[in-house]
Amino acid sequence: MMSRGKARAHANIALIKYWGKRDEELFLPMSSSLSLTLDSFYTETEVVFDSKLDRDYFYLNDKLQSEFQTKKISKFLDLFRIKKDIKYNALIKSVNYVPTAAGLASSASGFAALAAAANVASGLNLGERELSIYARQGSGSATRSIYGGFVEWREGNSSENSYAVPIDDAKWDIGMVIVIVRKSKKEISSREGMKRTVDTSPFYNAWVKSSKKDLMEIKKAIWDKDLEKLGAIAEANSLRMHATMFGARPPIIYFKPETIQVMEIVKDLRSDGIPCYFTMDAGPNVKIICRLSQSKIIKDRLKERFEDEQIIISGPGPGISYL
Ligand code: ADP
Ligand code: DP6
Repeated sequence: MMSRGKARAHANIALIKYWGKRDEELFLPMSSSLSLTLDSFYTETEVVFDSKLDRDYFYLNDKLQSEFQTKKISKFLDLFRIKKDIKYNALIKSVNYVPTAAGLASSASGFAALAAAANVASGLNLGERELSIYARQGSGSATRSIYGGFVEWREGNSSENSYAVPIDDAKWDIGMVIVIVRKSKKEISSREGMKRTVDTSPFYNAWVKSSKKDLMEIKKAIWDKDLEKLGAIAEANSLRMHATMFGARPPIIYFKPETIQVMEIVKDLRSDGIPCYFTMDAGPNVKIICRLSQSKIIKDRLKERFEDEQIIISGPGPGISYL
């Protein structure tokens, strides 16, 4: 007996960040978040449930993964197996067209693609909202990667009402320039980093409070297609998230010297009349929100300091697709 499913999901970058869980088992967040799905970064995953397999096998970029990594996937697939009473082990083959664990949202595209592939392989055939609830239980940010464009993850207060909602298809002049400062794996995962922040940072509650206001305001800016307003809110939201980490014990500092350099270049570009704004996640890489039509000018300026390969331009991306 054998059944398979294959899907693609794109990464997303949060403009209003998800940072902290109220329920770690169910991945319920402390606050709602909002992101832009990206065209340039994605994951393709195939899941095969096969009665002949003696255990689950997880290949990422053609490499058989450790027991630790495989366990995370197995636990996630159990959600589907239990629901459909599937007793078989699985072969999972995934390819990240995005650097893994470098703060470029590989876990978001990774778990969204896995959820969609398992959705077909298990025969569960969930709709997109339900699927976002499943993806959430693999990695919080994956909730949002089910949809394209601007997406809100509504925090909810139970598993059934914590899901993603598409806000705007982003079919206007908007994009991101991503500066890859370091490609290597980060020292502290988002999961660990957010937990430590919630547990020890005295600034945490203030951030949650201001984030709620940011979310309301950024939605208005999106509806108005107001890049200046949208960018300014996103930049502040990201810096305040990092401020909560500076206040943690032991502190968490994802910035590298080049991170600050990119922030300075963005400020210089702005004084030259080019609207662009930075946002950083759990890593040193910087994402610059801008008009897609001006992304080339921004890249050229960055090339005075960084290599061509370190600078990637992306437009808004689509939601999941079945392959
Ligand atoms: P990132 O910033 O890249 O999302 P995280 O540390 O948040 O980094 O997440 C990285 C983790 O996401 C990996 O250790 C792995 O468990 C999971 N992950 C990454 N890619 C995939 C994939 N293609 N399929 C399933 N899980 C993945
Ligand atoms: C800073 O979704 O990777 O990128 O839910 O524990 O898997 P887990 O964490 P993850 O955290 C993402 C944090 C962030 C902000 C965001 O994407 O909203």
